[in-house]
Amino acid sequence: MSEQSPAPAQSVFREGLLRGQVALVTGGGSGIGLGISELLATLGAHVVIASRKPEHIEAAVAAIRAAGGSASAESLDVRDPERVAAVVQKIAGEHGRIDLLVNNAAGNFYAPSESLSPNAWRSVIEIDLYGTFFCSQAVLPVMKAQGGGRIVSISMTLHYRGWPLMAHATAAKAGIDALTRTLALEWAPYGIRMNAIAPGPIPTEGVRKAFTPPPSASGQVPDVFAIEKAMESYARKAIPAGRWGTPRDIANMVAFLASPAGEWITGAIMVVDGGEWLAKNPSPQMQRP
Ligand code: COA
Ligand code: NAP
Repeated sequence: MSEQSPAPAQSVFREGLLRGQVALVTGGGSGIGLGISELLATLGAHVVIASRKPEHIEAAVAAIRAAGGSASAESLDVRDPERVAAVVQKIAGEHGRIDLLVNNAAGNFYAPSESLSPNAWRSVIEIDLYGTFFCSQAVLPVMKAQGGGRIVSISMTLHYRGWPLMAHATAAKAGIDALTRTLALEWAPYGIRMNAIAPGPIPTEGVRKAFTPPPSASGQVPDVFAIEKAMESYARKAIPAGRWGTPRDIANMVAFLASPAGEWITGAIMVVDGGEWLAKNPSPQMQRP
């Protein structure tokens, strides 16, 4: 089980599929977003990777360039609409177009809703939902002017049934699904296709944290082997396809939706999860007093 995608050079898509295109990937410097950025660059797109932490975005750009791809970094907090607009204007000024926006940036943590502070609620809703809206709205004039574009937002499946300790993230992602369907209709006349992807569990750093018990009072270090075993066991029992997902699984769907193969797909929420949500047991966080 590994967070690694297959080598960026290997792809099921034809070489040069996205050559000449410009993609903006929020949160594109880590986890799933990095897998998306790498594949888009492998297929010939120039990828602008935008998030808060220089160590994320600069390392990702360096890796893509080292592999022969084209990428650049923008420092961005998607909660700040003015900065979002400035970054979009800069990309449009430098490259003349934005063909694809991937709203991948998100924040999440397990926390009981009864004690969630207003700022904790606001932080997740603002990153996931507001950020998706701000970025989508900002690229609209650029896409309109060039006669169309594609927007893909990364959602989840946990809100299909409810998931204790994730009131904030499930509410935000349900909002992203609604936004996807509504904007697909509103912006179809401009040639813009608006879709979402709902990934199943993919062992990025964020997910590993969820499987890691909180630090004990004695300062005991979490047992990495036990975490791996818990994750293996989860994959065997809970994912019908029998394995965890990889960033490449999600990146492949992004590339498909961005390609002409996705030409007649808009307003769709594509579940890419090895069958996990269909087979899902009640949440392991479910507790009865
Ligand atoms: N449980 C309860 N509250 C939490 C929390 C947790 N595990 N983690 C953060 N919070 C609260 C903070 O206490 C703070 O609330 P307060 O001001 O009332 O104390 C609020 O959330 C904001 O935290 P802060 O760290 O200041 O926000 P940030 O803007 O720097 O970071 C987060 C945003 C909290 C979403 C942070 O987890 C993050 O940056 N995540 C990105 C990576 C990630 O989540 N990856 C998984 C992707 S699905
Ligand atoms: P991750 O590596 O933690 O990715 C989150 C990314 O978002 C980071 O690159 C982070 O970069 C960026 N980000 C966070 N807050 C931001 C902000 N305010 N402005 C701009 N960028 C911000 O986690 P991941 O698992 O790959 O998650 C990627 C997407 O997949 C998310 O939308 C998540 O909800 C979704 N998802 C993941 C899973 C899974 O199992 N992994 C399942 C379902 C859905 P910076 O820290 O540099 O800002």
